[in-house]
Amino acid sequence: MNNKVTVCAVGNGPALVDQGLNEHFTVVREANLEVRGLAVCGGHTRIDSAFVELFPRLEIVSSFGVGYDHIDAAALAKRGIVVTHTPDVLTGEVADLALGLLIATVRQLPQVDRYLRAGKWLERPYPLTATLRGRKIGILGLGRIGKAIARRLEACDLEIEYHGRKPQSDVKYRYHPTLLGLAQSCDVLMVVASGGAETRHIVNQEVLEALGPDGIVINVGRGTVIDEAALVAALRDRKILSAGLDVFEAEPRVPAELIAMDHVVLLPHVGSASVHTRNAMGQLVVDNLVSWFGGKGAVTPVPECQALVAAKAKG
Ligand code: 8YV
Repeated sequence: MNNKVTVCAVGNGPALVDQGLNEHFTVVREANLEVRGLAVCGGHTRIDSAFVELFPRLEIVSSFGVGYDHIDAAALAKRGIVVTHTPDVLTGEVADLALGLLIATVRQLPQVDRYLRAGKWLERPYPLTATLRGRKIGILGLGRIGKAIARRLEACDLEIEYHGRKPQSDVKYRYHPTLLGLAQSCDVLMVVASGGAETRHIVNQEVLEALGPDGIVINVGRGTVIDEAALVAALRDRKILSAGLDVFEAEPRVPAELIAMDHVVLLPHVGSASVHTRNAMGQLVVDNLVSWFGGKGAVTPVPECQALVAAKAKG
């Protein structure tokens, strides 16, 4: 008789997630009364109280990705369901991408590449670009990824300031209690903040315009943090210089106005998208489920569920 725990796979992750799940569990793709765990890969399904009603025996939701704004973790914790995510294993990858995107945006690397391929170098050199030299970078969201970006920016001799919910005791960068204050002080806004109701559209017209005409916005956090219509207007009216975006409000749809602009750099949400890092994230999705059903607790529960995990561990 098969006495494996039943887990439901939602969305598609790297192949090793399916392999790992199949090795340890009975895997289904539809809700059924036996399901005790969910493996959620891909952020398009909203996992809230209504969704988990379909799974009366559910104990744990193991989600792929560090951000989990598509999951109502507080509501699930109240129902005694633990939510886990995949922090740390993607920190360096996303920070590398953020630095690359910043340099690509300021020095116009995609545009320069297009220029060469179009044969225009044969006619004249590419026009001189803006510079990173002397810039002050404002980081919105100095968590694990924000700090990894800051370390890379320090190596580029750049001045760093930040805003977030609270000052961080382990850094020496200047803290701004308001986002507007940060934007007024800096000329690059590096958005690393997570999504959700609390951060929705906090980067608004006033914040964008405070960066000034040399201002640059980079977003590797969540598209919803920026009021995208205000960003399009600020770029169109040259209130800011440029933007480098890896995330958008309604992914995978990107506003046609942005696509038509040659002074922005647009990426299809690839911050963590290397084989190495996506596999590490996928392995952590499996490890959380294996550890939980092996009676060893969750490996990486989200903060909203840590009290629940501790209570369950005590029995
Ligand atoms: C992934 C991410 O693209 O971890 C996150 O929060 O945004 C990315 O690493 C995403 O989770 C894929 O679903």
